[in-house]
Amino acid sequence: MQRTHVNGQLRISDVGKTVTLIGWVAKRRNLGSLVFIDLRDRTGITQILFDETLTEAVKNVRNEFILQVTGTVLERQSKNPNMDTGDIEVKAQELEIINSANQTPFIIADETDALEETRLKYRYLDLRRPVLQQKLFTRAKIVKAMHEYLDDNGFIEVETPILAKSTPEGARDYLVPSRVHPGSFYALPQSPQQFKQLLMIAGFERYYQIARCFRDEDLRADRQLDFTQLDIETSFMSQDDILTITEGMLAKVMKDVKGIDIKLPFRRLKYVEAMNKYGSDKPDTRFALELVDLTEVFKSSEFRAFETGLSVKGSIKALVVDNADNYSRKDIDKLTELAKKNGAKGLVTIKYLNKELEGSAVKFFSEEEKENLIKVLNLKENQLALIVSDIWEKTCSSLGALRNHFGKTLELYDKDTYDFLWVVDFPLVEYSEEDGRYYSVHHPFTRPYDEDVPLLDTDPTKVRSYTYDVVLNGYELGGGSLRIYDCDMQQKMFELLSLTKEEIETRFGFFIDALKYGTPPHGGLALGLDRVAMILTGSESLRDVIAFPKNANAKCPMSDAPTPVDEKQLQELHIKIVND
Ligand code: AMO
Repeated sequence: MQRTHVNGQLRISDVGKTVTLIGWVAKRRNLGSLVFIDLRDRTGITQILFDETLTEAVKNVRNEFILQVTGTVLERQSKNPNMDTGDIEVKAQELEIINSANQTPFIIADETDALEETRLKYRYLDLRRPVLQQKLFTRAKIVKAMHEYLDDNGFIEVETPILAKSTPEGARDYLVPSRVHPGSFYALPQSPQQFKQLLMIAGFERYYQIARCFRDEDLRADRQLDFTQLDIETSFMSQDDILTITEGMLAKVMKDVKGIDIKLPFRRLKYVEAMNKYGSDKPDTRFALELVDLTEVFKSSEFRAFETGLSVKGSIKALVVDNADNYSRKDIDKLTELAKKNGAKGLVTIKYLNKELEGSAVKFFSEEEKENLIKVLNLKENQLALIVSDIWEKTCSSLGALRNHFGKTLELYDKDTYDFLWVVDFPLVEYSEEDGRYYSVHHPFTRPYDEDVPLLDTDPTKVRSYTYDVVLNGYELGGGSLRIYDCDMQQKMFELLSLTKEEIETRFGFFIDALKYGTPPHGGLALGLDRVAMILTGSESLRDVIAFPKNANAKCPMSDAPTPVDEKQLQELHIKIVND
């Protein structure tokens, strides 16, 4: 099979040439003795004209048949300015039907009303839609830019095992039973974290990998069970060096893929600042709408709803939006629901109409509080204030969710803006009242600030860490940290996280040992490649940029995985299924 051109290629300058094209039938139209067929491949579409000499030959040709056509390029009578090849058509002289096709369950076109479940079941057809193909081409371009940049900067690509041992990234592991070692399991890597640190101990200094990661966690639009990271680790670099080199890479990606020059360096926001201002550790900074603190205004308030906010760990904050009279009782109920779904116990709403504060809570405010409220919020006529009083994190994150909601519904940002920033200075650990123990905010290999180390024994939640997240348009694109490179500190960290001596030994003994052999100071980060691709292609879900994703129910609708296996396979693996 030979083709002289691809379907997105021919232009007016090619008129008169004899060409051979191959492609799928995207559309056919019969006009009496003439038949027009749009022939599609991954580069585009060419219109083919069959006259009466060939109409018999194309009689049975339907959508998605594969044709090879030889013919002459003609200037079109009626041009189509929306198509790259819209100035020409090819008048067929020879036709070969290379393959036939069943009728497809949905039409292969950019616009489709097929259900996502059907599209995933026939993903190979879904992926024939030009819009999805373009997304995967963009993804490949992103990866190419990353490879080039990292190669130019002395990074070496190293692969690490998939059959591995559990890495604590905070999700459940996928386990793989060993046939050879009855009762023992590999864990699929949640990330190559320990391996990349071991490569630093081995002296590689600059590592990267396009790494598959596996996490058994609840799926969301920006989460998959198996996903891909661009994973990086470096030695002898400061946090600033790592941020700078990552910014350089993202700048190249944006230039090569979107043709955009982004501003460097990225803004750096402290975690506490990000939470206080935007109510999120991954703030969407394309729009302002900042949270305002009201704890001081209400410090003497007796209002029951403000009690938690005035406690030691509490805070009272507000958001202000325009056009208060647009919000009905029902709208306010919906906003309250959203705040509650995001952790708040309730939402106090106050309208400022005709220079008066209106709302069921207003009767609990003193004159001074009312005055200060108007002043601190800088309230203008017809504005709506939404107030949450809760423990600090909940106050921030529930208002943060409302902020994102308003950002979207009030269209406060331009969809074509890309606003990168770093969030830094995360706490090292957080305390779970429910489990009565500390958990790492990033992971247990993260280094505490040297000056905060004494607090590890007295008030661990006050310890800050060398952790950084890169954020784009409200998504956490990636995260990383400087690592502990001292075995005693690593041991202490595991103990703080309530691991027993035995657990430390069996799970991490080899790793702690490795730290004893001249470990360089090191650190790195991982970017969620799927997320980068999702944002740069303007997609709503990771599924649009993953060739064969799982659905929201953790299944592959095409192959039906996961499926039961033969009894014999189970026996070989020494596994019995217990139905409960
Ligand atoms: P972390 O767990 O923050 O860090 O992951 C890094 C980035 O990976 C992406 N990501 C995901 N993408 C899709 N589906 C998921 N389920 C998913 N989980 C995470 C996110 C996230 O920012 N080993 C550390 C990195 C380091 O310290 O170097 C790690 O994995 O974009």
